[in-house]
Amino acid sequence: MSKSAEAALAELFDAAKAARANAYAPYSRFKVGAALRAASGALYSGANVENAAYPEGVCAETSAISAMAKGGERRIEEILVIGDGEGLCTPCGGCRQRIREFSHGGTAIHVAGPEGVRATFTLEELLPRSFGPDHLTGR
Ligand code: THU
Repeated sequence: MSKSAEAALAELFDAAKAARANAYAPYSRFKVGAALRAASGALYSGANVENAAYPEGVCAETSAISAMAKGGERRIEEILVIGDGEGLCTPCGGCRQRIREFSHGGTAIHVAGPEGVRATFTLEELLPRSFGPDHLTGR
């Protein structure tokens, strides 16, 4: 990885980690942070926010994507998710579809633990043969 790509990834990691610190997860006790770099180069972050009515909670990725859309952006270049535990904190199925909405073939999905990035995936690896906006155009 080039020096600048490495620095950009470190910046994304720090933003996701800072977001995770403010996660509200009193029920699962599983705090998650996410940060994404949009087409302009700007970073948007989010954390999971749970609710006593359990299904009303939102994931960290959803929160970061909402911040990006509110910022007027529509394209994710890379997104990093950070959780702890032994396993990979890969995006849930719903968040994979939400990432899909704003991604392109080269969008990178990084999965991190507290110590750093553990793995990087393409959207195609996480959500093969997906349904997307192009299915609804040209009908
Ligand atoms: N969670 C996320 O925020 N992102 C993920 O990628 C996986 C799961 C949250 C949802 C819930 O608040 C908690 O983690 C446990 O599932």
